[in-house]
Amino acid sequence: MKIAILGMGSVGRGLLEMIDGKDLGLTVTGIADSKSALLDPDGIHIEEVQMAKRERGVCGDKELSAADVVERGDYDALVEVTPTDARSGEPATGFMKRAIERGKHVVTSNKGPIALHFATLQSLARKHGVAIRYEATVGGAIPVMHTLEHGLAGNRVIAVYGILNGTSNFILTRMAAEGLTYAQALLEAREMGYAEADPTYDVKGIDAAIKLVILSNTIWKRNVKLSDVNITGIDMLTNDALRLAEEQHCTIRLIAEAVPEKGILRVAPRILPRTHPLVVENTLNAITIDTDMAGEITLIGKGAGSKETASACIGDLLFIRDIHARGH
Ligand SMILES: NC(=O)c1ccc[n+]([C@@H]2O[C@H](COP(=O)([O-])OP(=O)(O)OC[C@H]3O[C@@H](n4cnc5c(N)ncnc54)[C@H](OP(=O)(O)O)[C@@H]3O)[C@@H](O)[C@H]2O)c1
Repeated sequence: MKIAILGMGSVGRGLLEMIDGKDLGLTVTGIADSKSALLDPDGIHIEEVQMAKRERGVCGDKELSAADVVERGDYDALVEVTPTDARSGEPATGFMKRAIERGKHVVTSNKGPIALHFATLQSLARKHGVAIRYEATVGGAIPVMHTLEHGLAGNRVIAVYGILNGTSNFILTRMAAEGLTYAQALLEAREMGYAEADPTYDVKGIDAAIKLVILSNTIWKRNVKLSDVNITGIDMLTNDALRLAEEQHCTIRLIAEAVPEKGILRVAPRILPRTHPLVVENTLNAITIDTDMAGEITLIGKGAGSKETASACIGDLLFIRDIHARGH
């Protein structure tokens, strides 16, 4: 299967490394970063692109752009791994729409377009007979979408609960383990490279809420928006609160939860017994799906990382190749 990749950051580079190192049957015929692009219908030489990016800071020809790859590229699936713009979802949404209109499948790790324009993208994909898949947008490497779609097929999902943000989970873990203040734990998260210079989205619960929107719309097709989520972050949490919880053999975690029957759609710090399956440590993510037949299923794994996120994108690509591209 021929693929074109938009974005050569952490996820894009992870994808290239995995595709180059494994015999997956994927040929990269187009690639773009923010300042350049490269097209070759016979397959791009991955090691040369990696070297160009390392040495020159650009992956290809500065006269070409991501739009050229989308419009002119010879590919079966577009892999969209550019930065998330949670306000507009652009320019990624536009790239995805154009690819779909050209009859191309789309795989993305970008939360913006899926949280904001899921219904539009889905119906456009249906109209053009292609798939849009976004496993990497929620829970990084955790195959939650595949589990919902396949392993739990036929189940009614009653509720979903999750630790969907590794940065805030790391901060809470360190506050509880070492008695650090929120500010000290945030500083440590920054030093370890787990928190951005501006951690607002992570610590105020917005990133987790965006993922909850994606999960809810996937499961219940309700077209909920970020503004429908009741959000409280961890930035006001004191270590006294954590200490009190620990004295009761409990701890505090930032839980995203959706229980439509009870009208619950929220992200908030919650007190949980230390033995609760959602009490995972450091940057791990965890998702519990409560269903009518299977009961509760909890998936735990790495919520971010170059190779880990590439794993989710590659899972989507190989699924498309096996199910859609072969016309089953
Ligand atoms: N990293 C993770 O662990 C992870 C996990 C789950 C989901 N995600 C999501 O995956 C996406 C990519 O994440 P990342 O960590 O790889 O980001 P990143 O390291 O910031 O890389 C983004 C890449 O996109 C390129 N880019 C920016 N604007 C572009 C445009 N208009 N056209 C083409 N390329 C453009 C950048 O180009 P330059 O190289 O020229 O700057 C860069 O190569 C984001 O939406 C993120 O939220 C990431």
